[in-house]
Amino acid sequence: MTNTTHTPRVFSGVQPSGAMHLGNYLGALKKFAVLQHKHECLYCIVDLHAITVWQDPAVLKQQTREIAAAYLASGVDPKKAIIYPQSRVKAHTELAWYFNCVARTGWVNRMTQFKDKAGKNAERASVGLYTYPVLQAADILAFKATHVPVGEDQKQHLELSRDIAQKFNNDFNVPDFFPLPEALTQGPGARVMSLRDGTSKMSKSDPSDNSRINLTDSAEMIVKKFKKAKTDMGVMPGHEEDLSQRPEVDNLISIYSALSEESRETVIGRFEGKGFGEFKPALADLAVDKLAPITTLMSRYLADSEEIDRILLAGADKAAQIAEPIIADVRKTIGFLGT
Ligand code: AMP
Ligand code: TRP
Repeated sequence: MTNTTHTPRVFSGVQPSGAMHLGNYLGALKKFAVLQHKHECLYCIVDLHAITVWQDPAVLKQQTREIAAAYLASGVDPKKAIIYPQSRVKAHTELAWYFNCVARTGWVNRMTQFKDKAGKNAERASVGLYTYPVLQAADILAFKATHVPVGEDQKQHLELSRDIAQKFNNDFNVPDFFPLPEALTQGPGARVMSLRDGTSKMSKSDPSDNSRINLTDSAEMIVKKFKKAKTDMGVMPGHEEDLSQRPEVDNLISIYSALSEESRETVIGRFEGKGFGEFKPALADLAVDKLAPITTLMSRYLADSEEIDRILLAGADKAAQIAEPIIADVRKTIGFLGT
């Protein structure tokens, strides 16, 4: 079944569980503002996902506002797109329960993000962390969203969302009730790697702050972090094939290309044969150029938390209005009394 009968609708979410970094920006945020001009968009702050691991209550609220500020600073316009906190819209948790009964444990057992996050001590992980990707499917399908801009690490979760949608449609004999949502992961910023190790992803939870560029980093910090970024003994490559054994250099080229919106070939061509002493400062300048306005805007938005809260609560009302008739249809389809 294709999505042809469904009106395109975009949904994505970011967890309020730590500082936003360059990976979040290039993998997700940068696409949010672009898509709002083409489609109806909902951008959620997924606080219910965040609490699958411990969050300090005093910090959670502020981090929720910080994600909102990052959305706004990167160009998401609340008049065009809906931005809201997940916990304010009940449809997420309700549909997640129904989907817990549709999804098979065998499917959830295959999720690599759970294995990575739970580590060796899976028995001590919360049940919420285990069922996290089922809630993610509910987020998307509560709005019958068709497109989901995310980084590459979310591809497997999107496949699970499609499987859940398809099984619901089959089980209840409602073909095409839910669309099969597609991940939008194109572009060189879909998988930004750590600046300290080109084989592990840039992440909020990496203990080394030098591994990532945070959206709140000052220009000096950005320059310092790129200067310290791991490279190798060589010079800048002349061809794509020269990069297969050079993950760190590969990553820096991707970052440059995503920030400058030039192809990797163009970037490789420009720096061929140059030393890192030349490339790194050029990359740092570019990053400062692109990120400094966002950092400035973020702190401006954060200075008025009442305004942020107002935007988020109004967004939640709009989101609830879209989801409610869909959830009402789901209840009826399942066969609950009074529907
Ligand atoms: P999270 O911070 O895990 O809630 O992720 C928010 C969004 O950023 C999701 O769409 C992720 O796929 C994306 N993302 C997170 N880390 C990276 C990364 N290192 N490279 C590209 N995208 C990322
Ligand atoms: N799991 C996503 C992440 O860690 C966040 C998320 C939750 C999400 N619900 C979503 C992303 C729905 C896209 C759509 O990055």
